[in-house]
Amino acid sequence: MTPQAELVVDLDAYRENLAALRAMAPGAQQMAVVKANGYGHGMLPVARAARDAGAEWLGVATAEEALALRAAGDSGALLCWLAAPGAPFAELIDAGVEVTASSVEQLDEILAASPRRSRVQLKVDTGLSRNGARYGRDWTALVHAAARAQSLGRIAVTGVWSHFACADEPDNSATDEQEKLFRAALDDMAVAGLEPGIRHLCNSAGILTQPSAHLDLVRVGIASYGIAPDPAVPVPGVRPVLTARARLAHVKDVEAGARVSYGYRWQAEHPTRLGLVPVGYGEGIHRTASNRAEVGFAGRRLPVRGTICMDQFVVELGDVPARRGDVVTLFGPGDDGEPGVEDWAVAAGTIGYEIVTRLAGRWARSYRGER
Ligand SMILES: Cc1ncc(COP(=O)(O)O)c(C=O)c1O
Repeated sequence: MTPQAELVVDLDAYRENLAALRAMAPGAQQMAVVKANGYGHGMLPVARAARDAGAEWLGVATAEEALALRAAGDSGALLCWLAAPGAPFAELIDAGVEVTASSVEQLDEILAASPRRSRVQLKVDTGLSRNGARYGRDWTALVHAAARAQSLGRIAVTGVWSHFACADEPDNSATDEQEKLFRAALDDMAVAGLEPGIRHLCNSAGILTQPSAHLDLVRVGIASYGIAPDPAVPVPGVRPVLTARARLAHVKDVEAGARVSYGYRWQAEHPTRLGLVPVGYGEGIHRTASNRAEVGFAGRRLPVRGTICMDQFVVELGDVPARRGDVVTLFGPGDDGEPGVEDWAVAAGTIGYEIVTRLAGRWARSYRGER
């Protein structure tokens, strides 16, 4: 029987999506980005499926994520990129994880952490102003420090990379500007006599909108899960990996004028039938989608009525025959007309990334196509 609330992850779809994305950047290696619990899909099963699909690299943000992959037996090429002071660089290096240096200070931390020759990638900030050494003085300093450490045998510089700010806006010239700075950063390495190793710049959107920047490797996140980075950047040939569904906990008829959920933010104009969906913001369902989102049921869409609560929300069945225990689909691949993650993103006033990575709480999870 379907659990009360369930996330179903279609690993066949995920592998096929990776194949479709590889065909869009055929000259580049592929890094499957599985941070944030595999964008809410489950990091370990997704990572295994990525390797099955031939992903040469996995990418995560934190040391903890990288070490969890190693503890689960992953031994392939793996990069992590977000470390506050005190990050376990020694463990990462022992585990063969490639780490990212975003500043001279961070490179010094890496050097101090381990006597071993660490595999280090350098990150240059080409405009996003998050991590990375700012192109210019900071970048030059990092390049020289890395060249020195490499000549002393303390590190191997294995790669250089940056991250786009606006690749999901196809006409935004910022992406060309970032690519230009990245290429200038590569020139700086050449001047310092430092081989760049693997060069990478593209996220999902960049694969589609900036083919000139595919370089040696592309980092695929959101599109591999079958979700468009932005409505302006549809991704051909991929399908949604995740389905979220739940069984109605209660069905009731109410009279005209009935008011629904906290704050009485919805009122029935006519006699109608309501269904109670037993998930809420405790499961990561966005409260801002109250009165706006829809769920799928028997080939139709049912509107969410009233405020989404911690454990539950109400949908209007109207005259649709339904019984307690019937399954509604919050989002899925759309095969039965149900909404997609992107629809929930619009309803909640956010992006698809946030819809899936916020999933939490009391869902049962099942994986299809596990090998
Ligand atoms: C450094 C880095 N590369 C690649 C990605 C993947 O991006 P996307 O999910 O847009 O493909 C992310 C995720 O935000 C990231 O932080």
